[in-house]
Amino acid sequence: MEQLVLKRREFTLLQAFIYQHIGISLGDHKIYLVQARLAKRVKQLGLESFGEYYDHLVADTKGVELEYLSSLISTNVTSFFREQKQWEFLKAHLPSILERTGGKLRIWSAACSTGEEPYSLAMFLAEHIPNVTQCDIKILATDVSSKVLKIAMKGIYSQKACMSLKEGYLRKYFSPIMVENEVCYRINDMLKKQIIFREFNLVTGQYSLFAQKEFDIIFCRNVMIYFDKPTQNALIERFHTMLTKEGYLFIGSSEALTDMKKEFKSKSASIYQKG
Ligand SMILES: C[S@@+](CC[C@H](N)C(=O)[O-])C[C@H]1O[C@@H](n2cnc3c(N)ncnc32)[C@H](O)[C@@H]1O
Repeated sequence: MEQLVLKRREFTLLQAFIYQHIGISLGDHKIYLVQARLAKRVKQLGLESFGEYYDHLVADTKGVELEYLSSLISTNVTSFFREQKQWEFLKAHLPSILERTGGKLRIWSAACSTGEEPYSLAMFLAEHIPNVTQCDIKILATDVSSKVLKIAMKGIYSQKACMSLKEGYLRKYFSPIMVENEVCYRINDMLKKQIIFREFNLVTGQYSLFAQKEFDIIFCRNVMIYFDKPTQNALIERFHTMLTKEGYLFIGSSEALTDMKKEFKSKSASIYQKG
């Protein structure tokens, strides 16, 4: 099959579209990466060039193609209890957080991918709060991609995905289920009920839907790395208004708050507290 070549002019159009609609800022050197990631999709749609693909994206007012595009451009890699140090920090600070909030916890897993992050939060709270059923816990889990959200909402994971879970967690928080002749694990309904899954684009989403000072904890990990500085700063500013006083923001270990640091106290690597 003939190889599709992404022309510089087409790349410039896609670059601007991706930045405007997903918030991901692609440098000029990413032309070959974009060509490699999108070529299969362009052919699958029966289109003959990236220019035609761009027209298809612009004409798609329902955002179906935008979905595909975002899953091809960014990665959905995630795992249970990713960034172990952050969980240790949370464990040490959980009693003081609960004391401050009076047992009510509102948590946002922003860019939750296939759900391992919000389910880790639910398992973590079940494990470390002695009277967890008496607490009022709600976890909002959002992502731009409805494809990953569908997987998250099912809450069924392969044995490989469950390998990072601590001893005993599978037995306590999952039930085995056969999926296409493979043993998989389904998260228990009790934990699932604490989580609300929603589609939300962190860059173009309607933040007016959220109340100010709504969350005690925000996890926004391993997504800001795709955004440029102004987009990152705007997002951090949003998070600041959405956190309760002394609320915590957890970001990915390869990310950092630079310009907004004065608004947040740095507590540990990639963990910030609203002053
Ligand atoms: C690498 S995963 C991170 C998952 C999880 N937070 C973690 O750290 O394991 C990045 C996720 O960000 C999502 N994403 C990319 N751009 C986004 C945007 N503009 N708004 C919301 N989510 C976005 C992707 O769909 C993907 O699921």
